[in-house]
Amino acid sequence: MPSRNAATAPIGVFDSGIGGLSVMAALRRELPDERFVYIGDAGHAPYGERDTAHVLQRSQRLADYLCTAHQAKALVLACNTATAAAVASLRERYPALPIVGIEPALKPAAAQTTSGVVAVMATRSTLASDKFLALVRTQPRTVRFLLQACDGLAAAIEQADRHAIESLSQAYVNALVRQAPGETLIDTVVLGCTHYALISDTLARLWGPQVTLLDAGQPVARRTRQVLQAAELLCPASPESRSEAARAPLVCLSTGDPTGLERALQDWHVGEPAVTACALDLA
Ligand code: DGL
Repeated sequence: MPSRNAATAPIGVFDSGIGGLSVMAALRRELPDERFVYIGDAGHAPYGERDTAHVLQRSQRLADYLCTAHQAKALVLACNTATAAAVASLRERYPALPIVGIEPALKPAAAQTTSGVVAVMATRSTLASDKFLALVRTQPRTVRFLLQACDGLAAAIEQADRHAIESLSQAYVNALVRQAPGETLIDTVVLGCTHYALISDTLARLWGPQVTLLDAGQPVARRTRQVLQAAELLCPASPESRSEAARAPLVCLSTGDPTGLERALQDWHVGEPAVTACALDLA
């Protein structure tokens, strides 16, 4: 377990693959002095169409690795599916470790919709989870949430398969529009899987200008700052630590083929200067 004085230790971040880089980008903006170790569990993905036991077991494996091999001072679960399946059990396993999860941005969506109809795109596993159902129950009854499990979309994004991304996205947008009651228009769409934020340009084009897309990357980054501050674990922002962070800002590891992660790092400008991704054997 990290000790209280481990403020210079890295923050461990993981996702099933490249999706969590949408959260990493926000984390790096919010916390420029921090070091990060990011793992994409591509060798065991996608999570969203696997059973909860698999996602729980992988999340524990990744958390254990980040805590033991990197002495992570905090964990960020940059994956809605892993958060739904594992955040409670990880908090029990590491009671003194700050752990931040991500969940679909229903509350901000309810606050900003004017038509009262919000679409939620997420993985099948997230939408079926008790955690998500409990989140829906806490929303105002005046807002109607239309849910769509987007099977195959995270895998298509992972493989950068442009044709599959376009055709699946179109099919899921159409399916949600068909669900909308009467003439009421969907005006807000929650991107409840971190992979989908990576294709927000495609989704924005398909949904059209009247629709606002919401993801939770920025709120998660702000929450991470708050929990680190409360635990007195923020890295001191001295000129030395800033230049240290600039030298070794981000370690990126993939349990699958690291080239996909490396390409996504560049597309997302997450690691300047260019960060390389390394293979990690973590069965
Ligand atoms: N990026 C993950 C999420 O936020 C899941 C993608 C997958 O199915 O592996 O839910």
